[in-house]
Order: sequence, then C-alpha cells, then structure tokens
Amino acid sequence: MIKASAPAKLILFGEHAVVYGETAIATAVDKRAYATACELEGSKIIVNSKNIQEDIEASLIEDTTNPIVKAVQEALKFCKTKTGVGVEINSEIPVAVGLGSSASVVSATAMAVVSLFKENPDPLKIAEIALEAEKISHGNPSGVDTATTTLGGTIAFKKGTIEELKTEGLSLVIGNTGIRKSTKELVDKVRKSIEDPRMATSLFNISSLVKSAKTAIIQNNLDELGALMDKNHKFLRELGVSSPQLETLIKTAKKAGALGAKLTGAGGGGCIIALTQEPKKVIQALEKKGATAFQVHTNQEGVKIES
Ligand code: PMV
Repeated sequence: MIKASAPAKLILFGEHAVVYGETAIATAVDKRAYATACELEGSKIIVNSKNIQEDIEASLIEDTTNPIVKAVQEALKFCKTKTGVGVEINSEIPVAVGLGSSASVVSATAMAVVSLFKENPDPLKIAEIALEAEKISHGNPSGVDTATTTLGGTIAFKKGTIEELKTEGLSLVIGNTGIRKSTKELVDKVRKSIEDPRMATSLFNISSLVKSAKTAIIQNNLDELGALMDKNHKFLRELGVSSPQLETLIKTAKKAGALGAKLTGAGGGGCIIALTQEPKKVIQALEKKGATAFQVHTNQEGVKIES
C-alpha cells in the first residue's frame, strides 16, 4: 500500500491568458489531497472517495468519464501492468472553487499508483499522466494546474515550458464565495467573448503584466505585487469572469488593508486571493460577508510519497 499527496494550487497571475499560450504564475499551497493505492487481485480499478457515495468500479481499458479512474488507467499503462488497483482519496481542498482540487487528486493518484510498480517516478511523468486525467473534466486544460500540483514551489508556466521561480514564499488570504463553477464553461465563455477585439485587449493586458509580476515575486516586492494583482483582476473583470460575490470579497479585502486582491482560477464564483500583512483582519472582514476565509502559504512541496 502506498500513500501519496499533492498540494492545492493558486494561480497568482495569468489565468485564462495561459490557455492561449501566454505565461501564468502559479504556486503550491498548504492544503493537500491524499491518495492511497494498493494492488488488487484480478484486473479491476476500484476508487473510493469521501466525495462520492459508492465505490466506483472500472476496468483497466474502458472509456471513462471519471478523472481518478483515468489517472489510474494511464498510470498502469505507463507501468506496463494489468494488475488491478484500489485507490482511496482524502482531501483537504475545497472542490470546484479554483484551488486545483481535481488536479491535486489526480496527481496524488498517479504518484501513488505508479509508485506501486516503479521507484522514484519522475514528477514530469506524473504531471503528464495527471494532465491526461484532467482533460476528462476540463476539456482542453492548459496544464498549469497539474504542473503546479506535481512540481510544487512557484512556477512560471507556458504551454511547453515550466520555469521554477526562486521566491521567498508569500502568505495570502483566501476568501471562498462557496459558489462552485465549471472551468470548462468559463474557458468556453472567454473563447467566445474574445472574438470582440475589446475583450481580446483585456487578455493581451493580462499577458503583458505577467513579466512585471515575475520580477516582483522574485524580488519579494509586496507593494508592487499587490498593485499588479489589482490590475490583473481588473482585466479579468473586463473579460467577464468575475461575479458580484467575487467583487464584494475583493472590495472587502482591500478595505481591510489588503495590498492587492484578485480572483484566482477560472472565476465565475470560487475564490479570491488577497495579499496582506494583516491576515486576521482580512479574514474577519471576509467572514463578516459570509465567505469562508483562511490563510495559506505558497511555495509548498509538490507531489510526494507520504512516509
Ligand atoms: O480550474 P481552475 O479554476 O483552477 O482554472 C484553471 C485556469 C484556467 O486558465 C482558467 C484554465 C486553464 O486550463 O489554464
């Protein structure tokens, strides 16, 4: 039996633009998903998770609509084995609110299953397997989520290249609207809206500020980072992926002293992130507005085997 874990992720800058080949900056934070895998007699896949009522049973080869089953199938294919596998999932990460829950779960699953058959798997191979599994839920993901949940740390991600950024790590406050959203629907919405040149400009503006954001992160220039987060959010709002609830939380965080705040992930609901040196004050203010709020630390370890 092998237990693996993977972190939640936050996109700090560049969501949506990353789908079009631009750079996004993302980081791993201190909430994790855990997958425990064991070999089974016969050749079935059985998945058990607190989020599903009944165990899922699948064969090693059938077409599946379940990302966890897909991660197991791909992991077994990579290991060239037809052994059955059981996987149990436990996760601390809120689902469908932009914190990378699905990417984290499939990364931990891929790591646990591959590790049953191979020692010290390459995290890049795990990222590849996890991305195949993510395609089930997100259609055509850029890969930033699975790259972050497998490699960890803070990365500048562009389709085809991943740069690990040497940073001190940030303390951020998350405000969760509690509204679940579909990444696929929001990505489709942006695809349609950028047919309008004004919307396409917002996307271009997002990609332009990522370069400055990279420098500010490396220099740990918090004032500059806060200002860039505000700007990035303004462009995402213009792109049509914010919501009244997200706007309320952003205004609240700023009023409570945040240096900057923005939605994170696909938007349409989900979470905001706020950069602040007074986390308690910001958390209290967000909670007064009915949000779930908590502090996270960036730069966490990627996918790993739990001892
Ligand atoms: O699924 P989320 O909310 O973490 O959003 C993913 C980020 C997008 O840029 C909107 C989509 C993608 O594939 O990169």
